[in-house]
Formats: sequence, C-alpha cells, structure tokens
Amino acid sequence: MNVDITFLPSGRKVAVRAGTTVLDASRKAGVAIRTRCGGKAACLMCKITTNGAGLSPLSEIERRKIAGLDKQGMRLACQTKITGRATVEVPEDPLKAAVRKQLMRQAEEDELW
Ligand code: FES
Repeated sequence: MNVDITFLPSGRKVAVRAGTTVLDASRKAGVAIRTRCGGKAACLMCKITTNGAGLSPLSEIERRKIAGLDKQGMRLACQTKITGRATVEVPEDPLKAAVRKQLMRQAEEDELW
C-alpha cells in the first residue's frame, strides 16, 4: 500500500510504500534532510517536526535520543516510519540560513546607498 507524505516548507509530495522511513521518502522526493550517521539514530541531525498523523509511534531508541522533544512535535526522520498520509516540516539547513541572512543584510545596506 502506498501512502503520501508532504514535506514543508517546499510542499513537495511523494508516494511511498507504507513503512518507509521519512528519511528515505525525503530522498525520493528530492528534499534534503541532514544526516551524518546514515540513519542509525546516532547523529541527531535529521530532526523534523510533525503533528504525528500518519507516522509510526516513537520507538524506544528514538524516545531515548530526543528526550522529551517529541512533546514539541520533534522526531528523527531516520527512525520515523510512514503509516498513512503525513506532513512533516524540515528545518532549513543552518548554512543556507546563514547565507540567506547575509544576503538580506547586504540588500538592506544596498538600499541605503
Ligand atoms: S540520520 Fe543520524 S540520527 Fe537520524
């Protein structure tokens, strides 16, 4: 059975087989989720936020790793499996955010001239 997942803020949507991890689905959708451990719940770089709908319950390893952040809707993309129609939000890459802020600052300075 295929299920749809939508990635915000891009709005990209992809259909994947139920049980696929959010990390694997993001790769299929062409959405970049940062990872260093390759999906072994070790680096904690693949955090996403969600309302939990259409996703597997927290596994014991995920519960230990994110220690209460699940109450704010945070999950690990590599440990979370898609079970139904789901929507997740992927945080902006910190490097891209820094570049975007610098470009905005520069544009404001250019307006002053
Ligand atoms: S990819 Fe490293 S913790 Fe998820």
